Amino acid sequence: MAKKQKSPRPGTIAYSADRHEYYEKAVQCVESEIDMVDETYENLRGKKARFLREDFCGTGNTSCEWVQRHPKNTAIGLDLDQEVLDWGIQNKIAALSPKQQARINLVNQNVLNANCPPADVILAMNFSYQLFKTRDALRKYFEKARAGLADDGVFFIDAYGGHESYRQIKEKTSFDDFDYYWHQKKYNPITGEMLCHIHFKFKDNSWLNKAFTYDWRLWTLPEIQELLKEAGFSKVQVYWEGTDKKTGEGNGEYYPTNKGEDDPSWIVYIVSEK
Ligand SMILES: C[S@@+](CC[C@H](N)C(=O)[O-])C[C@H]1O[C@@H](n2cnc3c(N)ncnc32)[C@H](O)[C@@H]1O
Repeated sequence: MAKKQKSPRPGTIAYSADRHEYYEKAVQCVESEIDMVDETYENLRGKKARFLREDFCGTGNTSCEWVQRHPKNTAIGLDLDQEVLDWGIQNKIAALSPKQQARINLVNQNVLNANCPPADVILAMNFSYQLFKTRDALRKYFEKARAGLADDGVFFIDAYGGHESYRQIKEKTSFDDFDYYWHQKKYNPITGEMLCHIHFKFKDNSWLNKAFTYDWRLWTLPEIQELLKEAGFSKVQVYWEGTDKKTGEGNGEYYPTNKGEDDPSWIVYIVSEK
C-alpha cells in the first residue's frame, strides 16, 4: 500500500509556500537559457529567431522571458496541466506589459497534437521529453516537433547524465531561505526508468515533500541523437558546457563539440536543425 503523504502543518512556512515560486528560484534560469537559444539560432541562421514555441511550458516562464527580449518576439507555450498554466497566466503573464501580453499565449494542448503556426524555435527544456519511455514514443514526439518548425527552424532540448545520475540519491542545494532537494528515488537499469522528486525544506524545518514528481526514462546522449536523426533532423549537435578555470565547475557557456568528458554529473543542450 502506498504510504500516505503528510501535508505540511498549518502555520508552517511549507503550508503557505507556493511550489511554483520555489521551483522557479531553484531550478530555472530562463535568462541564460534564452541567451543560449537566441545566440545559437543567430549563429546558425544569420538572423534572429522571432517566434518561439515552448513545449511542456509549465508556467511559461521561458516564453515570458522571450517576449520581453524584443518587441517583435512572440511565443506560444503548450502544456497539459491547466493548474500550472493558470498559475503562469496569473503570476507571470499578468506581470508583463500589455504589449508583451499580446505577444504570448499559453495553451492547454498535448505536444503530440500541437496545432500552431511554424516556429523559428521549439524548446523542450528541463528534460520533459523523458516522459516518453520508448524509442517509438520519443521518435514520434521528435517528428511532431520537427513538423512544427519553419523550414529553417531549430529544435532545442536539454539532457543530463554522468554516473551520479544513475544513483538513488537525495542531493541538497541551499538557498538563502530554503533548501532544494533533487531526489533520485528509484532507478531501474533494465528499463532505464527512474522516479525523481523535488522537495523543499524551509527555515522552520517544515517540508514541502514531493512538490514535483517525474516518472521518466533516463535517455543517453547517443540514444537521443539517434532518435533525432531518425525523426528527420538534418543536423544534430550536442553543446557541452565549458569549464571555469578557477573553480573547475561549469561556466554556463555551451559550445558545439563531439567530445565530452567523464564528469560525474553534466547537463548539455542538443540543437537540431530541421
Ligand atoms: C518538467 S515540467 C517542465 C517545466 C518547464 N518546461 C521548465 O523548463 O521548467 C513538465 C511539464 O510537461 C507537461 N506535460 C506532460 N506531458 C505533456 C504533453 N504530452 N503535452 C504537453 N505538456 C505535457 C506537464 O504538465 C508539466 O507541466
